[in-house]
Amino acid sequence: MHADLLSSGARADIHMVECKGNRAVRKTFRVGYERHFDREVQARITMAEKFPEIPPLLEVHQRSFVTPYYEDILKFSRGESRLVPIWCVIRVLDFLERLYDEGFALIDAHPENFLVNREGGLIFYDLEFLQPYEDSKPDDFLNSWDLVGPPADWLGDEPAGGATTWATHWQPYVGLSAEQCMSLPGWKMRYYRMLHWTSSSLPRAIDRHLPPWGIQAKHKVGKLMRTLFRKR
Ligand SMILES: Nc1ncnc2c1ncn2[C@@H]1O[C@H](COP(=O)(O)OP(=O)(O)O)[C@@H](O)[C@H]1O
Ligand SMILES: [Mg+2]
Repeated sequence: MHADLLSSGARADIHMVECKGNRAVRKTFRVGYERHFDREVQARITMAEKFPEIPPLLEVHQRSFVTPYYEDILKFSRGESRLVPIWCVIRVLDFLERLYDEGFALIDAHPENFLVNREGGLIFYDLEFLQPYEDSKPDDFLNSWDLVGPPADWLGDEPAGGATTWATHWQPYVGLSAEQCMSLPGWKMRYYRMLHWTSSSLPRAIDRHLPPWGIQAKHKVGKLMRTLFRKR
């Protein structure tokens, strides 16, 4: 079967394949990542029906599974200056909250592990670290592990670099804390995001895109932006 390689990571390769006449994705895990494989498969078997954000399972093999392919119309990348659209952010938080309500944390929730499909639905395709709280569930979603990280003595699996948090993995690309997203009126969110974009995302983009001879100029521009647009 012909299969195009979509991505090759530390733990798995992703190929685009065909399954029953439709485009699909095959994720094949390397030896040693059986727990990650089991979690991905279990999540699709037990949670896809309840969570439209979790893709279903089409086939399962010894160390690989097949799931539908979704065209990503958002194509968000952390390397660019644009922010995650606010309507996506609200839906990401809603998804994380429903997972928390069910007693689960994604542990590896970041903007490059979700896509927006043609129908405008949110898809979280990377579920390798989805784990139950068991008896350590925090009382409040704002203290959930997907927002603040698990406790230091937690013994579950975490991605390289540790579990993701809102402050480290979303806020730089959203411009708001989770609490602000859940409580501020729309106009205030837009205002804070505009300040964040001009003081943080734009200078980062200038740094990346200006040629090296402009180094003095770009530092000055970046500094000016940060000073002018810092949130007071
Ligand atoms: N169901 C899918 N539909 C479309 N693209 C996908 C799908 N699953 C994965 N991908 C693509 O493959 C890449 C890697 O997938 P992911 O499951 O995040 O692997 P890894 O665990 O290596 O990060 C994603 O960034 C995405 O571009
Ligand atoms: Mg991933």
